[in-house]
Amino acid sequence: MKRKRRVFSGIQPSGNLHIGNYLGAIKQWVENQSKNENYFCIVDLHALTFIHKPEILKKQILQTAAVYLSSGLKPNQSTIFLQSDVPAHSELNWILSCITPVGWLRRMTQYKNKSRGQDSVNSGLFTYPVLQAADVLLYDTEFVPVGEDQKEHIELARDIARRFNDLYGNTFVLPKTVLPPAGKRIKALNDPHKKMSKSEAKTKGHAILLTDDDDKIKQTIRGAVTDSGNEIVFSGEEEKAGVNNLLEIYEAFTQKPRDEIEKFFENKNYSFLKKEVTEAVIENLKPIRQEYIKIINEPDIIFFLLRQGAEQAGNTAYKKMKAVREKIGLFTN
Ligand code: AQP
Repeated sequence: MKRKRRVFSGIQPSGNLHIGNYLGAIKQWVENQSKNENYFCIVDLHALTFIHKPEILKKQILQTAAVYLSSGLKPNQSTIFLQSDVPAHSELNWILSCITPVGWLRRMTQYKNKSRGQDSVNSGLFTYPVLQAADVLLYDTEFVPVGEDQKEHIELARDIARRFNDLYGNTFVLPKTVLPPAGKRIKALNDPHKKMSKSEAKTKGHAILLTDDDDKIKQTIRGAVTDSGNEIVFSGEEEKAGVNNLLEIYEAFTQKPRDEIEKFFENKNYSFLKKEVTEAVIENLKPIRQEYIKIINEPDIIFFLLRQGAEQAGNTAYKKMKAVREKIGLFTN
């Protein structure tokens, strides 16, 4: 029998999940879960990097878990758990931060974007990628399915693993990024030059949330920014970014090849494009939303599954931490 590949990925419960999170990450987790040995984490410690209301964070953690389950992650095929339930993530974070040069962190694009314009930047935001490296390396992860914005962080995790291995002997597997075949960077519908993002999801017209109803989806796509032309083709040109984004959303949801898509939209207008994209999005999100409504009303079941996941993840993490402690000269018992 073929050995299953070890996969880890996570999402921070920093807001309402949108189709970018789904197409970039969750969809590929679900589609490949039976082939792999999976660890899917709700990285709640990462969500502390911004000042937040405790009761809202709790709600978001629960909602993120409900989205994981309603999207099709199965607890008997994937270990689903909260990062804060496995203390080894924080311990390894510290150990790795002691070998990570500050210069490596300063180069991270997400840090530059998120800290821009802020009067005071907390150190958690700066060291965030080290915690992310700990999340991934703790499980001997071979593959990390994520959207394109996270590629840089996974490459950093590889660099950190390589450095640790060079200093203390072979300990960590070097993880590889896996991007989805389509939908690796979905743009905001009200500004196709920006990434669709949880932290801006409340801005009108920015995102389609996984919990939006059909009317809301229609309304958001109807208002999507396009251009003054009429050609419906995949394009890397700045002024075609809106149309290209709608086509990429369509491509990711329908899984049709690009040439077939362009042929289908030949000589059609933008309102036809928006109508077709709307139908594809609604068709795919409806079952997720229906399932979500059921699951979110069963918090006891969610907590039970998360506890079970944390126990499984904790066992794997404990063994790894024993090896790490041994390597760096700490006592293990
Ligand atoms: N627009 C996107 N297109 C494709 N993939 C995306 N992802 C995020 N936005 C898009 C992928 O979803 C997962 C979420 O990871 P995260 O929660 O750790 O943080 P993020 O990448 O910073 O996500 P957001 O939505 O932009 O949240 P905020 O605003 O809180 O930072 C990752 O796999 C990511 O690539």
